[in-house]
Amino acid sequence: MTVESVSVKDAVVRTAYERDLHRHWEEKQSDEINLLLGEADGLYHHHFAVGDFNRNILNAAEQDREALILKEMHRLESEQVALITDALDLQPDARVLDGGSGRGGTSFMIHDRFGCRVDGVNFCTHHIEFAERLALRRGSADRVAFHYANMVHTPFADGVFDAVVTNETTMYVDLFEAFAEFARVLRPGGRYVLVTWCLNDAVTATSPDVEAIDEHYVCHIHKRGTYLKALAENGLVPSRVLDLTAEAVPYWELRDHSRLKTGVEAPFLAGYRQNHLNYLVIAAERVAAG
Ligand SMILES: C[S@@+](CC[C@H](N)C(=O)[O-])C[C@H]1O[C@@H](n2cnc3c(N)ncnc32)[C@H](O)[C@@H]1O
Repeated sequence: MTVESVSVKDAVVRTAYERDLHRHWEEKQSDEINLLLGEADGLYHHHFAVGDFNRNILNAAEQDREALILKEMHRLESEQVALITDALDLQPDARVLDGGSGRGGTSFMIHDRFGCRVDGVNFCTHHIEFAERLALRRGSADRVAFHYANMVHTPFADGVFDAVVTNETTMYVDLFEAFAEFARVLRPGGRYVLVTWCLNDAVTATSPDVEAIDEHYVCHIHKRGTYLKALAENGLVPSRVLDLTAEAVPYWELRDHSRLKTGVEAPFLAGYRQNHLNYLVIAAERVAAG
């Protein structure tokens, strides 16, 4: 790494927590489950899903079962992106920012649906390189770009985006800092759509399951109330708040049957079943100036 790239990295990965998280993602190169699932159609996701699965596959012959489970998980993860695209209504000349773009699955699906330009920001270099290779292969590199940047401090000018989306990435950032940045880059009336898991602070102040997930993913799961407070404080007015906690359970039941399960299935299942952990979709518009 050159002196110049060291200083660029320091400007993007700024705090002790971000350095820990950055190391976690940089070292997670052979995340078998995500890579295997994406092989079928070139859409690589690092998020979970909602909705029921075909339970007949659990009775399939032993030699076929794992492949069927993985195929079904991938279907659910791809369909999950509709939670975001169904909350957007964009023209081909629109611009979208995807905060924490992973290997690009959500960015590509937004582009495919609306034909619009999508800029993903990410601070994991191998994710960016992977997504850039996919963009070339998909023939969309002129419309879907990936940038090495911190989503709470992006290189974009004020008001240039019609929409900002974050798909299961806000547990890695300070919500007040992130939403201030998203409001800054959104045009007045532009829409922010987020999908996240969060602590249901209407029911409990703490949860051992939430703590176990935080430890597993090096994240800080926020309270549901903090989301709404941080949106309001940053001029982002919710028009849709969906609680899909019950719908989030089957995905984890399915994943619990996979040979590739990682151990985080149990706290997700317990957290959702006890309603300590919520799965939320929020759409909010940036207030007009003045
Ligand atoms: C759980 S993955 C989600 C990826 C993607 N949204 C998806 O649905 O497939 C989290 C991603 O956010 C990135 N990330 C986490 N914190 C970030 C930050 N502060 N700035 C930029 N990227 C970040 C990680 O490098 C990783 O690619």
